Parts: sequence; structure tokens; C-alpha cells
Amino acid sequence: MNEPSTASPFETSFDVEAVRRDFPILNRPLEDGRRRKGMPPAFLDSAASAQKPACVIEKEREVEEQYFANAYRGVYYFGARIDEELEASRDRVRQLLNAESSDEIAFTSGTTMSINIVARAWGAKFLEPGDEVLITDMEHHANIVPWQMICQERGATLRWLPLTDDLRLDLSQLDEYLTPKTKLVAVTSMSNVLGTINPVHEIARKAHAVGAKILVDAAQSTPHGAIDVRTGDGGEIDFLALSGHKLFGPTGIGVLYGREALLKEMNPFLGGGHMISRVFKDHSEWADPPAKFEAGTIPIVQAIAMGTAIDYVEGLGFANIHNYEAALLRYAHEKLEAIPGLKILGPACEFKGPIISFTIERVSAEDLANLLDIKGVFVRHGHHCTMPLHDKLGITASVRASFAMYNTHEEVDRLVEAINFALERLA
Ligand code: ALA
Repeated sequence: MNEPSTASPFETSFDVEAVRRDFPILNRPLEDGRRRKGMPPAFLDSAASAQKPACVIEKEREVEEQYFANAYRGVYYFGARIDEELEASRDRVRQLLNAESSDEIAFTSGTTMSINIVARAWGAKFLEPGDEVLITDMEHHANIVPWQMICQERGATLRWLPLTDDLRLDLSQLDEYLTPKTKLVAVTSMSNVLGTINPVHEIARKAHAVGAKILVDAAQSTPHGAIDVRTGDGGEIDFLALSGHKLFGPTGIGVLYGREALLKEMNPFLGGGHMISRVFKDHSEWADPPAKFEAGTIPIVQAIAMGTAIDYVEGLGFANIHNYEAALLRYAHEKLEAIPGLKILGPACEFKGPIISFTIERVSAEDLANLLDIKGVFVRHGHHCTMPLHDKLGITASVRASFAMYNTHEEVDRLVEAINFALERLA
């Protein structure tokens, strides 16, 4: 295995092999097919869905086997235990985000649902014709389409903050794009394609100065570092969305954080059980947040296990994770940049998290991903739910290798070898 060219002082304290032992799927030789049989997977698609440590899988099993029941409905032992576990998980999310109250944490099905709730329950009530919603040229479709829909419905205008040539947000234009008409800025904290990390607190301060709210799509950044929603200097975050499955937790569960005052003044998005305080024949009255946004039966087991996932990453330490991943990213950049014709999409390493999307001259992204698969190297290809960004880059598809704290320098080497293998095959 090659050594990283730029070692982090913290790297020695981060035992990646011990971390890998926590993830059963990473240690199972591949059983399926062709030449990759018997190889361990080089899983480089954590930006889509991360793998789960054994403690998360075990927690799901514990709940299912020992005390599963519906939530917030039964006083019997199972019901009470489920409520207790759910509230403990909600409080872990509160702590992760430094939210003031766990009433500000609503469990949702994921980032997409969280953003849709804000669009439908806040936007539908507060956006007026002529108002503006500001998003950016690097957003995921989940932070584009809900705003297109609600702006169209409310007669509001959707504006797009452009990028610099090195694919960061062009903050020099932010003052121009923020006007008294801007009611909301919706921005990703880390691009799922470019890896670019955005200064969300600085953007929040400027948004607040014109009376706008800010929503942060934190789906990609949260596995690499938590966002403090209460900076106390005007940079506080009004709404934040994240997903459990990117945070080493289960699918089908995510979070909407909203400042309590905002959640209180919003209407609910979905109607049904649990989200009401009183139902009459001719109208209903709403429960307080977060119940107001948790209609029906939430993904109970998944919500509880998401709390376990948060405990797990916090146990490793975000500072350790950051330092390890930063060194891994630098190593991967250096190795990939040396491949002739390969172009990395995104800024220099110091401005990004551990995501590397790239194109290779005259090579189709799909062909490349298929050939990497033969070598047991798993990457995503396509537009990554960012068609406007790919249009801006003048391409239809790219290949993306995304890293988590369980990936190794050796896996980067496998990626490079697999790309060289693919290029020989395609020549
Ligand atoms: N949003 C996920 C990704 O970027 C699915 O791959």
C-alpha cells in the first residue's frame, strides 16, 4: 500500500482498520460474479448511502426482537419503552445540531421530505407573489424541485446564485442576489457532486440582514461534521434537513430541524393521526411541533437506530474523522490528477469534503462505472440528481467516488488501478 503524501498529525490516532471492523459489509469478500469474486468491496459510494456499523444493525434487531410497538400510543411496557428510545434519539439529534429544544427536531423520511415540508408548510403560507427564493447552481434536485413547485404556485421567483470558475459559490455576488424580496435562501452545506463546502453561517448572516430565512440541506456534510444551528451571532440556521442513511444509519428516516417559533407558525404538511390536538367534524386543531409534522406512524425502528449511528460517529470524534478524511482526499486527488485525460469537477481540497466527481476524455461515465465494478470498486455515475449543475459544466454525466471515514488509502489505489484497467479495456 502506498503511503499518503501528506500525513495528518491526527491520522495515527485514527485507527481505520478498527473502524472497518465495525462495518460487517466491508469485511465480507464479494460472492457475486465475474472476476471480483472473493475480493473485499471498495465501497466508494457513501455520498449516496453510507454503510452501517454493527451497533446500528444490532440496535434495529434489538428493537424488533425485544420491545417493538407503535409509538406515542401505548402505555404498556413495549409502548413506553419505544417512546423513551425515540425521545432519546431525538435528543441525540438535538445535541448533534446544538438545537435549543428537542421539540425543534421532527423525524421525517429523509432530506427530500424535510425540504418538501418547508416548501409546502412554510412556503405555501408565507411566500407572496413577487417574493424570491434564492438557491444555488450546485443544489441537488431535492433542493431545487420543491422550490420550483411552490414558487410557481405562489407566483414567487426562484433565483440561482452562480458559482466561481473553481466551482465554489460566488459569494461576491451574494449581496446582489439578496434583496428585500428574498424570503428564503436554500443552500447545501456540501455539494454532493463537487464536494464544495459552503459557509452556511456567513450566508445565514447575510440572509437575515435582509429579513430572509435560511434552509440548509445538510445531507452530505453531516457525516463529516455537524452544523451548529445556534451560533448566536446572526448566523443561526432556521431550517436544516438531513438523512439517516448518509449518516451510517437506516434508510427511510431523516430530520427536519426548524426553529421553534417557525415550526409553530407553520401549517402542517400531512394530515392524519398523531399530528392533531383535537379533531372535530368540521375542522381540526394541530398538535405542537414536532408532532405536527409527524403524521401517521413514523419509521420507529429506524429513528431509534439513527440515534445509535449518531452515538457511533460522535464516539469516533468529528475532528478525528475530518483529519483522516482530509488526508485521504488529498491522496486521492493527487493520484487521480495524474491520470491522463481525467478531470476532477470541484475546487481544491481545502474547500471541499471527501467527494471526487470526474470525467475522462472520450470515456462514458457508465462504461467506466461498469468496468470499475468488475474490479470490486463501487462508484456512482450519471448526473447525481444535479442536472442544472451538469448542464452548467457542459456534461451529461460524471463518475463520483465518495469517501467515508472507513475508506482507506489502499482503496484509493484500487480505484486508480481499476481506472487504468478500464482505460486499457476501452482503448
Ligand atoms: N443524494 C444522493 C447522492 O448524491 C442519493 O447520491
